[in-house]
Amino acid sequence: MNTTSDRNPDLYIGLMSGTSLDGVDGVLVALPDAAGSGLGMQMLASSYVPFPPELREQLMALQQPGMNEIHMEALAANAVVERYAACVASLLEEHPDAKVRAIGAHGQTIRHRPELGYTRQTNNPALLAELTGIDVIADLRSRDVAAGGQGAPLVPAFHRAVFGAPGVCRVVVNIGGIGNVSILRADGTTTGFDTGPGNVLMDAWIAQHQGKTYDDNGGWAAQGQINVALLDALSDEPYLRQAPPKSTGRDLFRPDWMADKLAPFAQLAAVDVQATLCAFTARTIADDIAHHAADAGSVYVCGGGAYNACLLGMIGSYLAQRGCHACVTTTDELGVSPSHVEALAFAWLAQSFTQRLPGNLPEVTGAKGLRILGALYPA
Ligand SMILES: Nc1ncnc2c1ncn2[C@@H]1O[C@H](COP(=O)(O)OP(=O)(O)O)[C@@H](O)[C@H]1O
Ligand SMILES: [Mg+2]
Repeated sequence: MNTTSDRNPDLYIGLMSGTSLDGVDGVLVALPDAAGSGLGMQMLASSYVPFPPELREQLMALQQPGMNEIHMEALAANAVVERYAACVASLLEEHPDAKVRAIGAHGQTIRHRPELGYTRQTNNPALLAELTGIDVIADLRSRDVAAGGQGAPLVPAFHRAVFGAPGVCRVVVNIGGIGNVSILRADGTTTGFDTGPGNVLMDAWIAQHQGKTYDDNGGWAAQGQINVALLDALSDEPYLRQAPPKSTGRDLFRPDWMADKLAPFAQLAAVDVQATLCAFTARTIADDIAHHAADAGSVYVCGGGAYNACLLGMIGSYLAQRGCHACVTTTDELGVSPSHVEALAFAWLAQSFTQRLPGNLPEVTGAKGLRILGALYPA
């Protein structure tokens, strides 16, 4: 087994599995020694390990109260970690001698209730340390919640470090199950919050009607007509009007939330519902950008939503309607693949923990102050 002294201090692994419940994205990255700046990071490998349908179902069930939850959660955590370990093994396949300093392992959010003082990412970091022989940093959100924050989003600090540019206002939008924005202002300040649904409603609708896990490139949504009455009904959600700091999840945007909104529109063609759900995500994001970052020059999208051309097109149209002429593109433009950004952020947060540097931005999460995020499970 490696000892701390013979490890290259610069190599980190980040593992992210988000609210889409699709699987785990992993990266192996060399980070410059001083945490706080992601500049000069070098990606060595990336991997994606999907969750099998049974695990997806287990995790979906845990999003809401159910029978025997403690037992079910523990088993789901072990199954998630089995996939995490497979992802680590795949990252190290081409780099068998890599001396990895630590793995930042997000875990799978099953409840997010910061207003009640908790957020829960199911995980078994002890098992991950056992299976990989590498230090694991886990539970990266709880400390921010303990300090009165939302515990989310955590990615804006990383976005600032890697994508921030002096004198220019940039917006980074991560569209996973839930959407979140990071506004990297020209004066160097940063803000960020969850905008509302990302892909979660579109994924649920296409699963229900076509048995697919997502609408590839938004191809189905693009064939439909946006229904304005349904769009307005969806938009009638207090969360969307709440001022930041704020964060959300499947706790709010549950299947019954969508079912209630859709009930009066039972006659609408399924394809038009898909187009409207896509427009809903796009409009919430565009409204937030127009409201908080009207001077943005560019909007860089990351997360799986970046692969939905229909969604990106609608974000651009809604922005233009609001007089905001920011160019909508993806983080590929900045040299980072949209599917790697979040995993890189968790590698970066693991480095921050290792160097005992704070990982949160209190102005984003609402925490009382800067906090070191995470807990260590030694190899
Ligand atoms: N080719 C694609 N076309 C449209 N949507 C896609 C595509 N690839 C991924 N997605 C969407 O992205 C989601 C996964 O994004 P991800 O960034 O992993 O989210 P999360 O962090 O919530 O897991 C999928 O569930 C799907 O909705
Ligand atoms: Mg995912």
